[in-house]
Amino acid sequence: MAFGQQINNLQESFEAAMNLSNSPGAVSTSPTQSFMNTLPHRLSAAKQQKALKPFSTGDIKILLLENVNQTAIEIFNKQGYQVEFHKSSLPEAELIEKIKDVHAIGIRSKTKLTAEVLKHAKNLVVIGCFCIGTNQVDLDFAAKQGISVFNSPFSNSRSVAELVIAEIITLARQLGDRSIELHTGTWNKVSAKCWEVRGKTLGIIGYGHIGSQLSVLAEALGMNVLYYDIVTIMSLGTAKQVSTLNELLNKSDFVTCHVPATPETKNLLSGPQFAAMKDGAYVINASRGTVVDIPALIQAMKAGKIAGAALDVYPNEPAKNGAGAFSDDLNPWTSELVSLPNVILTPHIGGSTEEAQSSIGIEVATALTKYINEGNTVGAVNFPEVSLRALDLDQENTVRVLYIHQNVPGVLKTVNNILSNHNIEKQFSDSNGDIAYLMADISNVNQSDIKQIYDELNDTSYKISIRLLY
Ligand SMILES: NC(=O)c1ccc[n+]([C@@H]2O[C@H](COP(=O)([O-])OP(=O)(O)OC[C@H]3O[C@@H](n4cnc5c(N)ncnc54)[C@H](O)[C@@H]3O)[C@@H](O)[C@H]2O)c1
Repeated sequence: MAFGQQINNLQESFEAAMNLSNSPGAVSTSPTQSFMNTLPHRLSAAKQQKALKPFSTGDIKILLLENVNQTAIEIFNKQGYQVEFHKSSLPEAELIEKIKDVHAIGIRSKTKLTAEVLKHAKNLVVIGCFCIGTNQVDLDFAAKQGISVFNSPFSNSRSVAELVIAEIITLARQLGDRSIELHTGTWNKVSAKCWEVRGKTLGIIGYGHIGSQLSVLAEALGMNVLYYDIVTIMSLGTAKQVSTLNELLNKSDFVTCHVPATPETKNLLSGPQFAAMKDGAYVINASRGTVVDIPALIQAMKAGKIAGAALDVYPNEPAKNGAGAFSDDLNPWTSELVSLPNVILTPHIGGSTEEAQSSIGIEVATALTKYINEGNTVGAVNFPEVSLRALDLDQENTVRVLYIHQNVPGVLKTVNNILSNHNIEKQFSDSNGDIAYLMADISNVNQSDIKQIYDELNDTSYKISIRLLY
């Protein structure tokens, strides 16, 4: 959609909001009159709730797809937003029809918000991905339309850390093999090469959200913890940071990866790294499928160097659940890997718990609400991260200006010129590539000034979208 068209649509949507002509009991007035008539009501509502509103919260429409968690619905309902909830994703034609009308959409991984779909989203201001990944959304296109996108990268850290703890003990006791044997009628009571984990050393590669949680849990089991990270990070408990990956590999009984997928972490554990590990060490990867070189792991296991491995992630993963999905067609080494003893394979379930889904619902719904009501973009994945502290209750004549624009020289000069008739209490601006975002609180604004400010800002070059909250 051309910028001009987006702007017109925003103008229409703003004016529709100002007009509120479809509200019960609305009388036929000019948009400006209607705007004036409804302003005191909306100002007092905002005052009671200590929140800034673009217009009556009941006008905000949110489309939630793919069975987004109930915690999110509760947060939106509490705000008074209109929520339309669907258990599954929608066929593209239906999605296009519905997205035309909504201010926010919540999705998980199956809904593809391509440029083709988003160009129909005339009122959309924000997208919530109730999951970790955001590659189902055309982030760049969304940003250029002034639509910010939020996700939930860390709500499932605890779930992953707990899975890894389970895997450490499972590998040390060969539980996977004993279970498979007994399922097939074989009684095999052995203690050789089965170990307690107390007193053993866990080497954590990547001491971020998951690695550091894991560190605390592992120490509670009596393990010694070493970690390696490219950043110097203060340890939790008595864990120790080592300065090289090799040192960690040399000293650890269990090595677990918790790094992002980057060019630097591709095949971070490969032949030379397995060779540097202790004989009989165990390897765990619940980070990303590119981090461990699986053919090299298979060789190290066959050679008896590595005593067991737990993998939750793979270079290629099936798009959907189903029998036969994990095969040599997907990754050529699959049948070799599944035939090895003491290998635990899980289908990328590290973060898949009820608790994680519930936290994701809360985290993303809160981010969306903060953006809709206050304009804060902290945590947005495609937008400059800008935030201003909330307004005090007594700041009645203060208006918050949210101005999204193309990142070109001279824009702020023009905007501040428009705002300078009022007292600019605070402002914050940042850019991210081609997109820039200004938040400003201006005081001493009469009710009659608001529409004028909007119109003047609306006439500026390089504007993508504007919202005024009051
Ligand atoms: N299996 C699952 O279901 C699941 C769920 C959630 C997250 N994950 C994955 O787990 C991984 C870790 O997630 P997180 O939330 O802890 O991330 P995080 O960003 O909090 O931490 C990652 C850490 O890795 C460090 N790091 C980056 N590059 C490194 C390198 N080359 N060597 C050493 N350290 C390096 C960073 O400095 C950071 O401390 C990510 O890949 C994430 O996608 C998997």
